[in-house]
Amino acid sequence: MSLPRQWPICYKNELMKILLTGGSGYIGSVTTELLCDDGHEVVVFDNLERGHREAVDPRTRLVVGDLRDPHAIRDTMQEVMPDAVVHFAAYALVGESMQEPAKYFVNNIGGGVHLLDAMVNTGVKKIIFSSTCATYGEPEEMPMHEDLPQRPTNPYGESKLMFETALRWEQQRRGIQPVFLRYFNAAGATEKYGEDHEPETHLIPNVLKVALGQTPFVPVFGDDYDTPDGTCIRDYIHVVDLARAHILALEKDVTGPFNLGTGTGFSVQEVIEACRKVTGHDIPMKMSPRRPGDPPRLVAAADKARRVLEWNPRRAQLETIVADAWAWHQAHPQGYGRA
Ligand code: UFG
Repeated sequence: MSLPRQWPICYKNELMKILLTGGSGYIGSVTTELLCDDGHEVVVFDNLERGHREAVDPRTRLVVGDLRDPHAIRDTMQEVMPDAVVHFAAYALVGESMQEPAKYFVNNIGGGVHLLDAMVNTGVKKIIFSSTCATYGEPEEMPMHEDLPQRPTNPYGESKLMFETALRWEQQRRGIQPVFLRYFNAAGATEKYGEDHEPETHLIPNVLKVALGQTPFVPVFGDDYDTPDGTCIRDYIHVVDLARAHILALEKDVTGPFNLGTGTGFSVQEVIEACRKVTGHDIPMKMSPRRPGDPPRLVAAADKARRVLEWNPRRAQLETIVADAWAWHQAHPQGYGRA
């Protein structure tokens, strides 16, 4: 049964009730924190499989449930009746997705479709979806705008693209109002919430582990790319700026894709250098073979987000991003629950 709802769903400066999946993960926890700071009511739906209970803001209500269980999300949606959904919960390791593709499709698409079904069933229209620049694959144009062809090179990116497609069809057929936020490289932290993955594969936390004395050196995966210093270039965006983009997307009557990056790329070596400067530690590095599937360069053209969402990254400097991550890692050297 579909219940009638007002259109558009959200207005700027109005308090909203949000159902947020994946609030115990890295970007989900920070987005939850900012939504709560703004006074919105947030219900977190999360299975706690890869996130951390300690990362769920205590100002929210946590429903422990799995999107692969259609009844769990349907019941929660009906009970909460949110104004909008923010959807983070997913597997997000490119390497793992190459090893176990089906796992990514079952969770990221299957789980997503259950969420969508629960929205349609309850009449909830607006959804902000955590997508990725990995949906583009290896683009021919740089910087990357939203209209580039999407040709993912791994099951993770494919699963995110397939869910974008599912959302587009529901938009066309049943008035779902989806926003796809395609993140570039999320990094940084707030005072409370930061990055704690197991295993950790991301560059900045791995470099900071060397500064903390937990690992002897940082492997540099390839120094023979066609870039000025031979190492891969990425667009690092502060997690707080990413989180802010979700709130803007909720407040505005918008749909469709937005690339979220700063528009400036840094090489692996430049990131390590910034980490040395911020931490005051040597941080030895070791040249290592290329990591399969790494595109040489991924940099966002984020003018659409700036223009349409009025998004203005405030912590865009690489050293600011690294300094915030460093503060969090120093306060939580072993991650959550072990500080
Ligand atoms: N790198 C190293 N050493 C490390 C870790 C990473 O040299 O110990 C390099 C990688 O090879 C890459 C760069 O640092 O060139 C950044 O790697 P990350 O793993 O931090 O990030 P990715 O760019 O691989 O991945 C990010 C997101 C993914 C998303 C992908 C899109 O984390 O979710 O961008 O390509 F799919």
